[in-house]
Amino acid sequence: MPHKVTPESPIGIFDSGIGGLTVVRAIQAALPEEKIIYFGDTARVPYGPKSQVTIRKYAADDTAILMRYQPKLIIVACNTVSALALDVVEKTCGSIPVIGVLKAGAGLAVEATENSRIGVIGTQATICSNAYAVTINSLNPDAEVFSRACPLFVPLAEEGLVDHPATRLIAREYLDEFAGKDIDTLVLGCTHYPILRRIIGETVGPAIHIIDSAEAVARRTRELLDESGLLNKTREQALPHLLVSDLPQKFSRIYKLFMGSELPDVELVEV
Ligand code: DGL
Repeated sequence: MPHKVTPESPIGIFDSGIGGLTVVRAIQAALPEEKIIYFGDTARVPYGPKSQVTIRKYAADDTAILMRYQPKLIIVACNTVSALALDVVEKTCGSIPVIGVLKAGAGLAVEATENSRIGVIGTQATICSNAYAVTINSLNPDAEVFSRACPLFVPLAEEGLVDHPATRLIAREYLDEFAGKDIDTLVLGCTHYPILRRIIGETVGPAIHIIDSAEAVARRTRELLDESGLLNKTREQALPHLLVSDLPQKFSRIYKLFMGSELPDVELVEV
């Protein structure tokens, strides 16, 4: 039975861990009146090295958790789920609209590139799925896409090592893939990576546009809510309601580092 949706209903957002907070931040900045329910599957992060079967199961669980809060929209703030299981999310939420980060990021990259040579970094599962190249080529058939999986970036971000020599070393190792490829645009194809944006940007150099899909998602969210008359015009700014499947010791520090505010109450949910 579909639930009743009103402009005051929340926006549900999920990711495997803290990475999707990059999307929460962008939504809060663009749409401060909206009520946000965020689920980070901190007990099962990372998703990137897992099989498609497991990722699809997790996607269904994560969506079902958010559906309990009767959202008006679901944002998949995880590229891995957007690449391998967007249909599972859509099926689990019935008539509630779904926005995935991958399409938004691909669109932004196509807008930004001037030479149609685009680099994409993401989790193992996202890169192996080839979903970015397919989506970018559907928007610009002439674009050349160069990809590299960067699995260690997720734990580095989860550990908050945003300015650490180990992160610099690993960034050099991974991003060396793009040397000599003449890319002018690099897509951060994992929502954890904007947390390491400074080091990634310094490693590839200032001539390369860095694409963070969070802003494109915020833009698309506004359009979609506006078209369907569901923009919330009544609320004062509220803190996001945070749900996690495990409360890691460093969660509060990383939240603060990343969101620039104290951690609001966090609710533990079982997956
Ligand atoms: N942040 C997620 C993504 O955008 C997943 C990272 C992970 O759990 O491996 O792909």
